[in-house]
Amino acid sequence: MAVRSAAAAVAASNDGQHGTQHGTQHGAEEGEIVTTQPDTTALPAFGTVPAPVMVVAQTTDGVWGPARAQPVDELRIHPFAHALHYGTAGFEGLKAHRGVDGVVRLFRHDRNIERLRRTAQLLHLPLPPAELVDAAIREVVAANLDVTPPAPGALYVRPLLLGTEPNIGAAAAPSSDALLAVLASPVGDYFSGGGRALTLLIETDRPRTTPQFGEAKAGANYAQALTPTLEARARYGADQVLFAPDGEVQETGAANFLLLDDDRVVTRALDSTFLHGVTRDAVLTLARDLGYRVEERTVTVDELRTWDGEAALSGTAAVLAGVGRLVFGDDTVTLGDGGVGPTTTRLRDALQAIQRGEAADVHGWTEPVNG
Ligand SMILES: Cc1ncc(COP(=O)(O)O)c(C=O)c1O
Repeated sequence: MAVRSAAAAVAASNDGQHGTQHGTQHGAEEGEIVTTQPDTTALPAFGTVPAPVMVVAQTTDGVWGPARAQPVDELRIHPFAHALHYGTAGFEGLKAHRGVDGVVRLFRHDRNIERLRRTAQLLHLPLPPAELVDAAIREVVAANLDVTPPAPGALYVRPLLLGTEPNIGAAAAPSSDALLAVLASPVGDYFSGGGRALTLLIETDRPRTTPQFGEAKAGANYAQALTPTLEARARYGADQVLFAPDGEVQETGAANFLLLDDDRVVTRALDSTFLHGVTRDAVLTLARDLGYRVEERTVTVDELRTWDGEAALSGTAAVLAGVGRLVFGDDTVTLGDGGVGPTTTRLRDALQAIQRGEAADVHGWTEPVNG
């Protein structure tokens, strides 16, 4: 599959060509990944355009070597590599935002580094030092400043961690070696339709992940969520699945879930069953700043059925996306008027104002990156 360059993508985004969120564009070659969009408010399909530079580090005999910048290209991985057979693959997702002043700033990447290390522990991979990951993230952003679009676009940064020991007899043993590749991609909006409120199917039978991987950002979790998500789309026209095993709400396949109203924000308390979102934490902090009561506690499916307020998904990609409908098998509950609620909009705006350098960063969440 051909991949058009990020520079071409960002340039094309200013050419007045039309694009859609997913799939092949008009005029694109067969199988080519799409990069054309009308302007920078509607950048290419999320994650389809590699930025030109990646940063790679690997271990030798379990000891981490230096991070090196190189043109984005195929990785050399032995076909016996542990990750390819036994699933020792994890990753992260964060963004660098171009502010109204033109400065590009990372948002809370220290949290993503911590979480990547947690994933490495859960996958029993050699632990990448925080300083190494930090240097690699900064370097990848600095090297790709040219293709970092203005808001609402951003440079999405994707650290990838793979078990590389070439051993197909290690089904019950950890990988002694690992590779870290920090990739980047200029992105627009994750959900098609931008501000459109989403429909979630409530799934109480099948879990999103095995119990021991709830907190890990392991590739296996996304594979596990795929069947329920595809079925929810095909059968119910749902955008996402809200996993609520045993009637307790956890999260969707790629974002945390929040209930909101005029006075409060309610979400599941941190535990080992779900991914501890950086955006979730930021939204709760901003909610407290703005005088909302924050309740971190169990949310049951029964409570969802009678919730008289708003709901939203939080995540690096989703930002804070409004939820308009909850589907419980044959019953659908419409929240409010089915659109994005006012508290959701207020919190989303507050978060984006900080990310874009429009509001004071009182919590010290952003860090400028220079070329
Ligand atoms: C399963 C899952 N939950 C929650 C999130 C939100 O996390 P964050 O806000 O750190 O992006 C993500 C996205 O990374 C995710 O994949």
